[in-house]
Amino acid sequence: MTPESIARPTILIVDDASDMIEVLINFLSDRYEIIFATTGRQALALVATARPDLILLDINMPVMSGYEVCQALKENESTRDIPVVFLTRITNNEELVRGFAAGAVDYVTKPFMPNELLARVATHLQLRQVRLEIESKNAELEEAKALVQRQKDELAEWNTSLKQRLLQQSALIRSKSEEARLQSDRTQKISEKITNAFVLMLANVQEQRHAKLDTRSRTVEALAASMVSTLNLPQSEQRKILIAARLHDVGLICMSDRGFLFQGVLGPDDYTEYRSHPVRGQSIMGISEELKEVGLIIRHHHEDFAGNGYPDGLIGKQIPLGSRIIHVANFIESIFSKETGRDAKYQVTSKLSMVMGSLLDPDLAVAGDQAIKDVLADPSAPGA
Ligand SMILES: [Fe+2]
Repeated sequence: MTPESIARPTILIVDDASDMIEVLINFLSDRYEIIFATTGRQALALVATARPDLILLDINMPVMSGYEVCQALKENESTRDIPVVFLTRITNNEELVRGFAAGAVDYVTKPFMPNELLARVATHLQLRQVRLEIESKNAELEEAKALVQRQKDELAEWNTSLKQRLLQQSALIRSKSEEARLQSDRTQKISEKITNAFVLMLANVQEQRHAKLDTRSRTVEALAASMVSTLNLPQSEQRKILIAARLHDVGLICMSDRGFLFQGVLGPDDYTEYRSHPVRGQSIMGISEELKEVGLIIRHHHEDFAGNGYPDGLIGKQIPLGSRIIHVANFIESIFSKETGRDAKYQVTSKLSMVMGSLLDPDLAVAGDQAIKDVLADPSAPGA
């Protein structure tokens, strides 16, 4: 219905009596657009093009009755919603029921009462208008629902696509991560091989410089190995400490023979040179990035727990754990190398307990005692 038709609806009058059509035109033409037909067929043809808002339909017409016209209108999808009001002289219930059954919404009896006719026409036009508005709102609602459904479908499709892309990206990242991990492992192994070769080379240099130096270092390494095992340190930590233990005195290879061999009476200059060996050892380790922490352990392996050591005079837990362990192992080896009696191990254990808290870390006493049991053998014992 256009805005013009809302303002001034169109009414189709169908009656085979021209005088009746004239009467109705007189009643209605002030308020409505009027078109008319005098036969049923003419009416159906006119409805197809004029699209009236209401039809006043005479029941008793020749050839095609009002019932038949009404039925034809209601069977047609495009015209079934046009309200039909019968014009009749019939007032018996059977005829009226037949009219409603054919699809009429109301009837007006002839002769017409103008007010009644106008009221019925106005009522049915308003009802039609309300119905059309409801249908329009329903159509809008259906369209909105369809739009929401399309958006939900698109969102679901997008989600599915996104999940697939995320899965693909995750798989790619996992693949790259695994590849990077393998590469890192390969690099780590190569680095470890290079470090091991470097350590063996320096150990060999120690041995070439003086066999005793390397022998003592091996014993210190064995004692430290027992201690880190007792302390249950992480593998990476153990590895650094054991390298440091093997090379803790590598700085001595730079010294003069007199100072290096620690023989005779050392003069002040010799002693100063000797005390520089931890720093020299750290300097040698400094050429490898992986051995920098090892170098730090070596630097502090002569720091006393009470703070009287060198080169920095660190106190207690300021001293790296690896340095404290090597200090214990070094002390054990030093004492043991001078003991020759059957109770050498006992003597070492006893002397070790005497310096715990002053020279050495008392928290390492148990690990030190265990190292003595694990590594040392009394000089006079069978197989020693
Ligand atoms: Fe040393």
